[in-house]
Amino acid sequence: MKRILIVGSTGQIGSELSCKLRSIYGTDNVVCGHFAPPYPEGFFDAGPTVKIDATDINQVAEAVKTYKIDTIYNLAAILSATAELHPQLGWTVGIGSLLNCLNVAKEYGCAVFTPSSIGAFGSDTPRVKTPQDTLQRPTTIYGITKVTGELLSDYYFHRWGVDTRSVRYPGLISNMTLPGGGTTDYAVEIYYKAVKGEKFTCPIKAGTLMDMMYMPDALDAAIQLMEADPARLKHRNSFNVTAMSFDPEMLKAAIQRHYPDFKMEYDIDPVKQAIADSWPDSMDDSCAREEWDWNPKYDLDTMTKDMINVLQLKLQ
Ligand code: NAD
Ligand code: SER
Repeated sequence: MKRILIVGSTGQIGSELSCKLRSIYGTDNVVCGHFAPPYPEGFFDAGPTVKIDATDINQVAEAVKTYKIDTIYNLAAILSATAELHPQLGWTVGIGSLLNCLNVAKEYGCAVFTPSSIGAFGSDTPRVKTPQDTLQRPTTIYGITKVTGELLSDYYFHRWGVDTRSVRYPGLISNMTLPGGGTTDYAVEIYYKAVKGEKFTCPIKAGTLMDMMYMPDALDAAIQLMEADPARLKHRNSFNVTAMSFDPEMLKAAIQRHYPDFKMEYDIDPVKQAIADSWPDSMDDSCAREEWDWNPKYDLDTMTKDMINVLQLKLQ
């Protein structure tokens, strides 16, 4: 059985990935690294936890040694919009945590999963059906950390045999933990407003297409890739994965099929809009489909139905 450490386990992905990994590998085999509040409800009672500042290699190494870890899911990062406001912090956390996880993994023989992002592409990248292997010249500090992370992860695999694997996640939509300061956060916030019967003010312009995915598919992607037969992997860091591509108007229309009176207005955030304008409209994820059978279950309409059902219960 795997022994897993999740670094940055209390965020949008980690709060759900921890439950899913514990249901597969057993509660005591999944240790949740935490750094700062807020904590998901019941966090400290749900299984083993350990405080880790991932920018301190000693804290990462101590947790790996103590809990006899063989697999690290490294989720510590500062997301795109916040990183653009605090570039040094974005670099220190994104690259500091990755390098520490890689060096500890090399020493103790761990596999490492670290998400990359649609942010790893820039305005010079082909925007439509963005290929797996293409030009990557991002103009955001977040994107620069993601491309650097992909290269470092491949380097540790080729040079030292560290089993590094990752995906380029699109914007993730979920209902347990709010997103942590990204450009695609609007696509989560809009559902909370709709279910509360409130008007939504959208920070991203109509017509801005971005790849998106519902959290259950995002969790499956991470776990399926980490379980994939290494002999089939021609790529490692990182695989394009996507489930849908939409702009704010398409999302509004999907919500209005449930709430016909739902209203949206625009107040464009220039930082987020500039980031969104530099990202793909849609990615080609055929390599993930070929090399480890990636096959998302949710599209815009099935995700919208589920989001609304869950939020109606949560917000009542
Ligand atoms: P999040 O902001 O919700 O969570 C980040 C976590 O990192 C938090 O638990 C935070 O406490 C922790 N953290 C911050 N500084 C730390 C430090 N010094 N040491 C240890 N932990 C620290 O982010 P998320 O949405 O869960 O994203 C996780 C990963 O997935 C990141 O690499 C992110 O870039 C990537 N990703 C996310 C999305 C998305 O839409 N959520 C899309 C693409 C890629
Ligand atoms: N959802 C993330 C962000 O907007 C994409 O990496 O930062």
